[in-house]
Amino acid sequence: MSQTVSPSLTAAYREKFPASAKLYERGKRVFPNGVTHDGRYLQPFPVYVEHALGSKKYDPDGNEIIDYWMGHGSLLLGHSHPAVVEAVQSQAGRATHPGACHELEIEWAECVQRLIPSVERMRFVNSGTEATLMALRICRIVSGKRKVLKFAGHFHGWHDLLIPAADPPYNTGDYGMPGITGGVLGDLVVVPPNDLAALERAIDEQDPACVILEGTGGHWGLVPMRGEFLRGVREVTVRKGVILIFDEVITGFRVAPGGSQEHYKIHPDMTTMAKILAGGLPGGCLGGRADLMAALEFDNRYGKKMKHPGTYNGNPLSAAAGVAALEVVATGEPCRVANDMGLKLRTGLNELFERKEVNWIAYGEFSGATIVPNYEGPRPRSDDFIPYNNALEKLDIKIDQKLTHAFRAALLLGGVDFFGWRAMLSGAHSPSDIGRTIVAVSEAIDLLRGESLIS
Ligand SMILES: Cc1ncc(COP(=O)(O)O)c(C=O)c1O
Repeated sequence: MSQTVSPSLTAAYREKFPASAKLYERGKRVFPNGVTHDGRYLQPFPVYVEHALGSKKYDPDGNEIIDYWMGHGSLLLGHSHPAVVEAVQSQAGRATHPGACHELEIEWAECVQRLIPSVERMRFVNSGTEATLMALRICRIVSGKRKVLKFAGHFHGWHDLLIPAADPPYNTGDYGMPGITGGVLGDLVVVPPNDLAALERAIDEQDPACVILEGTGGHWGLVPMRGEFLRGVREVTVRKGVILIFDEVITGFRVAPGGSQEHYKIHPDMTTMAKILAGGLPGGCLGGRADLMAALEFDNRYGKKMKHPGTYNGNPLSAAAGVAALEVVATGEPCRVANDMGLKLRTGLNELFERKEVNWIAYGEFSGATIVPNYEGPRPRSDDFIPYNNALEKLDIKIDQKLTHAFRAALLLGGVDFFGWRAMLSGAHSPSDIGRTIVAVSEAIDLLRGESLIS
């Protein structure tokens, strides 16, 4: 592995995380790059987690780390929330897989329906990727059309049709990816975000079966989409008779108990969900208008059925965790706290960056915060701020990898784990966590300056 993090930072890191260094040596012998998810790859090595509680996780060396991954966004209630733990433990002794219908799957679905009324019928799957895959297939059956329209930079999981154009570059028009065929790419229409005229033109020219989007913008708001544009998309899709899918895998139950569609008061035709849906256990769901979901029924009005197997669909452990989590979500409290902590973190970071005279800024909305290092422009003066006038090509870029690994490693030395340059807050984070995080970011900046990685 090439050495990108500086020798002195690496030495301090090895000293703090010796048990993780040893586990990584084993991990590398069984996993490509030693990891089970690309995002967990970190130089010089990832920190392994032994247990976690609330907003913290603990490594095998006994280090306490404030967590901003929060189960890739699935832990709005924090790690090992007592209601979720108790529900899973009690269900594990009853049945882990009845291979049959069971009452908990109905309860789980009723929880979803109460929070997201546009979901008239639904099917559970095992991940967000499966949910978006299934949505496309149903749209094709009911519309008789082939193509799918997505926005550049929007992430909908890693299956063949929607992973292209999830990452830059976006300006070449070539969204080819290793392992994905030209035939599949021919069915994908990619439109720049926040451009209603381009959307309308693409619908007229390409006649897609559906439009899919992330409700707060690509990569959970890296390039924000705001209400006015979303309402425009809804108006255009209704007028043109195109099915609109809100991918609420991240935003669902997070932005508000009813997701981004509740916040923006928009009624999509279909919704994909995962993450918080299953309380931190594996699980996904596709739901929407009953007439569309009828494509899953035998002898349906379309004369064609979407075949839907799946060994773990509606698994009772995920259902138990999901019911427990969604009941707490329904109080509104976890969303309120997470959104409040998001605001505190963004504000605290921007104050810190100004104090330290580093040309970084933080932005975001709801329970997210994103740092832009080496920002060229005026500092934010309010939390409404969107850097670079929301330009896709300036916000969704591959940041220098040496700096990225060094920043994460330096932050971990200070007891904080960011998702790269980004943080995901939860209802378990506290003002004291935010205070400690600001100190850790300040120390990380000093470390990076000491290594001449930033000025
Ligand atoms: C908006 C969105 N859609 C789909 C997915 C894919 O979900 P999963 O990782 O459960 O397959 C993700 C995952 O982060 C996501 O953020």
